[in-house]
Amino acid sequence: MAQPFFVTTPIYYVNDVPHIGHSYTTVVADVLARWRRLWGDDVVFLTGTDEHGLKVQRAAEERGVTPLEWADQTSERFRETWKLLDITNTDFIRTTEPRHRVGVQQFLQRVYDNGDIELDTYEGLYCVACELYYTEADLVDGSCPIHGTPVDRVTEENYFFRLSRYEGRLLEHYTAHPEAIEPAGKRSEVLGLIKQGLLDFSVSRTSITWGIPLPWDPEHVTYVWFDALVNYCTAVGYGSDPERFARFWPVDYHLIGKDILRQHAVYWPAMLMAAGEAPPRHVFAHGFLLVGGEKMSKTRMNQIAPADLVAEFGVDGFRYHFIADQRFGPDGDFSYEAMVARYNSDLANNFGNLASRVLNMATNYVGGTTPDAREDGTLVESSRAALDGLRDCLDQLDFSGGFGAVWQLIKDANAYIEDRQPWVLHKAGDAATTAAVLGDCLEALRIVALLASPVIPHAAAELWRRLGLDGAPEDQRLPGAAAWGSADTEGNRLEKGASLFPRIDRP
Ligand code: MSP
Repeated sequence: MAQPFFVTTPIYYVNDVPHIGHSYTTVVADVLARWRRLWGDDVVFLTGTDEHGLKVQRAAEERGVTPLEWADQTSERFRETWKLLDITNTDFIRTTEPRHRVGVQQFLQRVYDNGDIELDTYEGLYCVACELYYTEADLVDGSCPIHGTPVDRVTEENYFFRLSRYEGRLLEHYTAHPEAIEPAGKRSEVLGLIKQGLLDFSVSRTSITWGIPLPWDPEHVTYVWFDALVNYCTAVGYGSDPERFARFWPVDYHLIGKDILRQHAVYWPAMLMAAGEAPPRHVFAHGFLLVGGEKMSKTRMNQIAPADLVAEFGVDGFRYHFIADQRFGPDGDFSYEAMVARYNSDLANNFGNLASRVLNMATNYVGGTTPDAREDGTLVESSRAALDGLRDCLDQLDFSGGFGAVWQLIKDANAYIEDRQPWVLHKAGDAATTAAVLGDCLEALRIVALLASPVIPHAAAELWRRLGLDGAPEDQRLPGAAAWGSADTEGNRLEKGASLFPRIDRP
């Protein structure tokens, strides 16, 4: 039976519309999901929307609609964007769905029954934009350290999750599982936070109504972060399908931005421990995409909509950029100029030229079908190196490194053509060597199409078709399908076709 693999993105707030920051995490998760499917895994790839809390309630009030009407509209925007970007999520959870409500209530009840949720009075400084309490020490110039906006002083009788009881167990867990937080710098940050001492946090509100009522005291609604984090469990059957939950939990990868590390690496594992469930296997916190060196935000008006870039670069061009141009981990600056430059060099030149050169020569010199001969030259080793490099890097979630290895195969194939000069061989009447050289190039192209398919699925599938291959790259299974000469390709009818990535020329 196929091995289960479960990867998640954060569930996005519905008070915002999708921008390239949200799509960054989602594209990366999609590449990972597609990659694991090539290895035959049974992949659950979860994304969704976070729809409760004060922020959403206020956004809806401002527009004179109900919170649910507002959530319906914006949740749909996320779905549309993921469709546009060819995201292959297998589920999309909304925290307003009954399956989620039932699971959250069961989760809360468990933690309450275990004695880790208790009633208390609290006075604190609350940032509505973060939906988080801060201490005086956290504030910067008296304002929220993330948003720079004033915080509210709030006094409430609340139920508290006894996070402070979990310091020891969290430290023990992270000592035994250093791989549970990546990259390493983020792990140190989290260990530092835990060692400083953890404060209990409130898990309920009486001041708002837009949320999930506590099962034992329905006057209170669940704190939005507690509610949201549990989505990762409810989506795979917590509270509704225990067998499915047992199959997919613990999650393999939570991919998140560094802004929500504390919630995922401190709150969440402690909540899971309190409910008697295992903590996540890996939480990977990536850096931020900056625009002109600044964080994107509604107030700065520097948010970029994915659809605007897709209109110019295509879906594959969009996906490729965020995978290849940013290292997955540190912050990265988004620039339009860099996007054009990388598109032209990697996609139009390296990838596109290789495909059109090889298909053109095969049409002109060997009758437009795949020859039954090969040289089995240097590209055999290059192909192996591409698969090994891609696998080693993707095991570490080093996406730019991984696809860099695939692009090395493309460069090697272009260099091989320069070296062997099939046009000279053809002119000299050496039909056998011409066919063998092109046989190698076509085999390398097949392997490129397969290995590049997680990041540029459209172009890969189109190239696959032009190579006269059956099915689609996503139907193939690794490592076998990437082995040199593993496919029966002789006599395949080839098709030249138009340029896969037309150059973008800017004045
Ligand atoms: N709803 C919470 C998450 C709950 S998860 C149980 C939330 N939502 S959010 O809409 O604000 O999304 C935050 C996430 O969006 C970040 O963690 C990151 O994955 C992504 N990004 C948003 N802006 C980003 C950048 N500028 N750059 C990279 N990713 C960013 O927090």
